[in-house]
Amino acid sequence: MESWLSKQSAFLLLFLIKFLVFVDLPVSLCAYDWYSSCSNNRFNCGKITNVGYPFWGDARPDACGHPDLKLNCAKDITTIEIKRLTYRVLAVNESTKILKIVRDDYWGGICSPRLENTSLDHDLFDYGPGYLNITLEYGCTLLLQFDQMAIRFSCPINGSTGAIIYYLSSIPDLVGACKYNVKVPVVASAAAAAINLTEEALIEAIDGGFMLEWNASNGICDGCQRSGGLCGFNTSTNAFACHC
Ligand SMILES: *[C@@H]1O[C@H](CO)[C@@H](O)[C@H](O)[C@H]1NC(C)=O
Ligand SMILES: *[C@@H]1O[C@H](CO)[C@@H](O)[C@H](O)[C@H]1NC(C)=O
Ligand SMILES: *[C@@H]1O[C@H](CO)[C@@H](O)[C@H](O)[C@H]1NC(C)=O
Ligand SMILES: *[C@@H]1O[C@H](CO)[C@@H](O)[C@H](O)[C@H]1NC(C)=O
Ligand SMILES: *[C@@H]1O[C@H](CO)[C@@H](O)[C@H](O)[C@H]1NC(C)=O
Ligand SMILES: *[C@@H]1O[C@H](CO)[C@@H](O)[C@H](O)[C@H]1NC(C)=O
Ligand SMILES: *[C@@H]1O[C@H](CO)[C@@H](O)[C@H](O)[C@H]1NC(C)=O
Repeated sequence: MESWLSKQSAFLLLFLIKFLVFVDLPVSLCAYDWYSSCSNNRFNCGKITNVGYPFWGDARPDACGHPDLKLNCAKDITTIEIKRLTYRVLAVNESTKILKIVRDDYWGGICSPRLENTSLDHDLFDYGPGYLNITLEYGCTLLLQFDQMAIRFSCPINGSTGAIIYYLSSIPDLVGACKYNVKVPVVASAAAAAINLTEEALIEAIDGGFMLEWNASNGICDGCQRSGGLCGFNTSTNAFACHC
């Protein structure tokens, strides 16, 4: 009896040793090697290089980032879609978690906007420090005396030949004067240049972009990274995943 027991424990011990030596535990726990796939496929496009979590897109698989943070690359231009509007990505800073973007419909000009206010997905983004909203009024017919912040120039929009007016801060009462208005954020220091009241200065200020801070499970991601993992997403459960 005693020898049978010891024989059995010896067998168990051998089995355990064999298991520990020959079975690669991380591989057995990870269904697919997303760790390598995500670390080897960082996002690169033109001036935007070496971008990791929470972004994905182009050659970077969807399991490497947040579903709503897909970057697109075309002709070396990086774009991202936020609430159905397309933005050009000017810079990505992973350590500060700040994205610098500009509305694509305002790139190089202010006369062909999508008539939609800039709006964020507040679950993911917050405006970065030091920005102002510029309000652009389109299709204005009644050009009364506007305050000194106003600039007007011809800008045919949706068939109307009305002028465009912009305001740096508060919008005065324009009831009936203009058909549409669009709010566009700019960094406050750039907005100062737009005070020059020229179309070029205004375009330049807008094209300077504005900053967004992202929060894509930032806290959980930090913990994942400290444990040696790589932040990503589980595309079947649609939840954060720590790839190992
Ligand atoms: C990110 O921002 C920090 C702090 O402003 C700066 O030191 C760093 O160079 C930036 N990194 C990149 C890649 O721009
Ligand atoms: C933008 O927001 C303002 C209110 O803040 C609203 O009056 C205006 O109609 C909005 N513009 C568009 C194009 O939705
Ligand atoms: C800018 O406009 C957005 C809405 O379009 C608003 O949520 C935000 O508070 C405004 N920011 C400032 C500084 O006025
Ligand atoms: C542009 O004009 C067309 C035709 O007048 C109208 O149906 C459409 O609603 C207008 N677009 C906007 C954003 O108001
Ligand atoms: C306004 O324009 C003038 C002439 O182009 C330039 O010298 C000046 O620096 C501009 N002011 C600002 C605040 O950008
Ligand atoms: C990020 O979002 C989570 C919840 O989604 C929240 O608990 C956390 O405080 C946020 N972190 C920052 C820095 O805003
Ligand atoms: C995603 O979650 C499912 C269910 O929890 C799990 O079986 C699968 O291995 C996970 N995939 C990844 C890549 O984490």
